[in-house]
Amino acid sequence: MKTILIQLDTDQHPSTFDRVVAVDADVDALFSYGGVTPEQVEPLVHGAMFTRGPKDLCKTAIFIGGSNVAAGETLLAKVKKTFFGPVRVSVLMDSNGSNTTAGAAVLCARKHISLRECEAVVLAGTGPVGQRAAQILAAEGARVWVASRSLDRAAQTCEAISAIVPNARLTPVGINTVDDVRTACQGAALVIAAGAAGVELLPASVRAELPELKVAIDLNAVPPAGIAGVEVMDKGIDRQGVICYGAIGVGGLKMKIHKAAIRKLFESNDQILDTAAVYQIGLGLV
Ligand SMILES: NC(=O)c1ccc[n+]([C@@H]2O[C@H](COP(=O)([O-])OP(=O)(O)OC[C@H]3O[C@@H](n4cnc5c(N)ncnc54)[C@H](OP(=O)(O)O)[C@@H]3O)[C@@H](O)[C@H]2O)c1
Repeated sequence: MKTILIQLDTDQHPSTFDRVVAVDADVDALFSYGGVTPEQVEPLVHGAMFTRGPKDLCKTAIFIGGSNVAAGETLLAKVKKTFFGPVRVSVLMDSNGSNTTAGAAVLCARKHISLRECEAVVLAGTGPVGQRAAQILAAEGARVWVASRSLDRAAQTCEAISAIVPNARLTPVGINTVDDVRTACQGAALVIAAGAAGVELLPASVRAELPELKVAIDLNAVPPAGIAGVEVMDKGIDRQGVICYGAIGVGGLKMKIHKAAIRKLFESNDQILDTAAVYQIGLGLV
């Protein structure tokens, strides 16, 4: 029986990136749909649910993607609502690479420091990638400072994470000046910068004043770097005593996780591969 991946993408054109990864993960047939809205989900999912017998349902799976992560989450909710009883297929949600990127970033840090009790700052922790990185760190027992230009947005993000990780130790931080960055990052062993493309969040002057910093991970690939001095290709490079990863340095592991997650979809018909599940898959790869 051939494996079939049904790609539901919220963008007009289904992502070529996600399509290439599906092929590289040995999917036999890829059905790609673009511009998918919640109203269109039910018939698309019924086509997956009612075509194969119970023991073969694991050979059909759904991938949710697209650049709008909130829209992807809405599709995921609708897909889950469409299933009933054992009549379901496994689903991977990775809109804009949010889950695989956040998981890969935390796993890169975990190679060098113990995350339990670690003091970690996620700069721009309100975005799809930053929020997920903060969630995973909190679930690993780290104390996490979630930074944003808006203290309110940071606080909302902390609340959202606490709803998923009940024992999360989170502190929201508003950052509007260089002094704010310095204060937020003082004492941090790990800084992950998850800001929008081309925005510097941690300037060189502050970086030089962080004696406790052991690992710096910058997910922004577009100059200027999110963390001054971190190069986009850095992959565990020691720069003045700090282990550095840039966006492409993290990207290799992200790709491995993405492919492994797609392969895992076809192991059973009842998996929902979200942030925590994708991270677990990554843990098995490092
Ligand atoms: N390496 C990879 O494989 C990979 C994969 C996916 C994404 N990425 C990269 O990871 C980063 C995070 O992705 P994302 O989708 O979560 O990013 P995003 O939604 O574009 O932005 C994340 C956060 O950045 C902050 N921000 C936006 N504009 C800013 C500005 N002018 N100054 C300061 N802060 C600003 C915002 O936080 P506040 O408004 O709360 O301050 C926003 O929530 C991006 O750079 C993206 O390109 C890398």
